Amino acid sequence: MKKITAGIIGIGFIGRGHVEALRRLGYIDIAIACRGGEEEAKAKADELCIDKCFGNYGELIADPDIDVVHICTPNSQHYSQAKAALLAGKHVFCEKPLTVTAEQAKDLVDIADEKNLVAAVHFNKRFYPLIYQAKAMFESGEIGEVLAINGSYNQDWLLYETDYNWIVESKYSGHSRVVDDLGSHWFDLTKFITGVKIKKVFADYATFFPTRKKPSKPVETFAGKMVDLDDVVDVEVTTEDYAGVLLRYDNGARGSFTTSQSLPGRKNRCYFEIFGTKKSLFWDEEKPNELWIGSREEGNMLIMKDPSILDESAVEFSSYPGGHNEGFNDTSKQFFGKFYEYILNDSKGKGEKESFPTFKDGYRQALICEKIFESQKKEQWVDVD
Ligand SMILES: NC(=O)c1ccc[n+]([C@@H]2O[C@H](COP(=O)([O-])OP(=O)(O)OC[C@H]3O[C@@H](n4cnc5c(N)ncnc54)[C@H](O)[C@@H]3O)[C@@H](O)[C@H]2O)c1
Repeated sequence: MKKITAGIIGIGFIGRGHVEALRRLGYIDIAIACRGGEEEAKAKADELCIDKCFGNYGELIADPDIDVVHICTPNSQHYSQAKAALLAGKHVFCEKPLTVTAEQAKDLVDIADEKNLVAAVHFNKRFYPLIYQAKAMFESGEIGEVLAINGSYNQDWLLYETDYNWIVESKYSGHSRVVDDLGSHWFDLTKFITGVKIKKVFADYATFFPTRKKPSKPVETFAGKMVDLDDVVDVEVTTEDYAGVLLRYDNGARGSFTTSQSLPGRKNRCYFEIFGTKKSLFWDEEKPNELWIGSREEGNMLIMKDPSILDESAVEFSSYPGGHNEGFNDTSKQFFGKFYEYILNDSKGKGEKESFPTFKDGYRQALICEKIFESQKKEQWVDVD
């Protein structure tokens, strides 16, 4: 099979996840770039058994052997790095949220279009097999028209004042923290399944800790529990620890969404309940191989992921038989597979539509997040389009 080279900028929590998922495809060479110069890059490359590394991202983008640039850095850097990569003629696979403003996201959509490059955003949750099953049930008419969508996306790794990560500071994360970080996934996921679009938002934010204890050394995501508390300084926090959002959809449906990284016991609980005129669906990322189907006329049902009983579209993303659970990193493997197949087949050149979330989806989510921020500031409903 033809080989292709991916260059990953940022080797923290998710950067390592990209390395692992890309390796599972088997036909991708990997290079990495770190921010701390050659020494850090070499140390991380050694740890991951990677031959090619760069001490800054500019060198990685300038390397003619790199075909695709993966961006796995803090949110506020995505725009400049994605723009530089596109202008250098590279395809881009960017982490979510695509950018910290809708204007930046729109600019990236335009540049990718002008340059005819493939540009994806890592809304990986779409690639759990049961998400495709849920989507197929909507498309077949089994669920009916959407009446209401409820849900939340909660975690607990920023529960204490002593929990610090770059994401709490708006200069790295953008104006909103949890809404951009977790909400963007939820808005993308529920739109992907149902097709209905958010038209209006009304939001309420809370910051539980206006200051947090920042360690003198960098801390990677989810690694805060291991920090030495003798070596910290107080830092002001302007981003939200909690957000509640009321939603109105373009078909008249109503929704509500809450999100936080400071709710004890919820580790990565992204869940939705979608109520249709015929049936309802409930799914929770902490148990991604189960889908609940609610009905008034029949008994409610819980299905377990098993390719032998799923819709064809969901079977495509099931690598293993029933009872062999598929999880977080499998979603990236599936997504990367579609993305790289699209590039290697020159599908864009042939005018074929992408089967994965693109910068246009990243722009849509950036716009929703921006309007949610505006709504909580004004304390009123705000139109999204
Ligand atoms: N899709 C998902 O499920 C998912 C999960 C986690 C994080 N993310 C996203 O991934 C991005 C990174 O988050 P993370 O949790 O991995 O953070 P992290 O802090 O664990 O890692 C970020 C890494 O980027 C490096 N870095 C910072 N600036 C750099 C630069 N200029 N050049 C090269 N390296 C640089 C840091 O040294 C660090 O190693 C964020 O945008 C986040 O929203 C997505």
